[in-house]
Amino acid sequence: MKHIILLLFMFTFMYGTKETGINLFYSKCSTCHGTKVSLEKVKTEEQWKSTIKRMEKHGLNIKKYETEKIAEFLAERSQ
Ligand code: HEC
Repeated sequence: MKHIILLLFMFTFMYGTKETGINLFYSKCSTCHGTKVSLEKVKTEEQWKSTIKRMEKHGLNIKKYETEKIAEFLAERSQ
């Protein structure tokens, strides 16, 4: 019984942390250029969304909810 609870806890933990804005940012936005270009910029959430849209034209493959999480993360950290 104890093991099942521990396992459940680990799954919640893994799924809870896997797709946060910061994790998505580091996995999606560091392939063509460094993360520095983004981390140095100050933009609002809407501006980040349109930046990410432009990245899609360059070849970025991203889902809508991922765009939203990354935009939220980047906007919050540049406040
Ligand atoms: C397929 C390659 C590719 C991926 C993946 C990519 N970028 Fe870019 N990025 C580019 C290119 C090419 C430029 C330079 C041309 C331009 O600015 O549109 C650029 C420029 C930038 C700039 C500097 C210009 C500006 O608007 O301030 C930022 C910031 C940026 N990218 C953020 C991101 C973020 C955030 C992600 C992840 C969601 C990302 N990039 C993923 C190709 C990519």
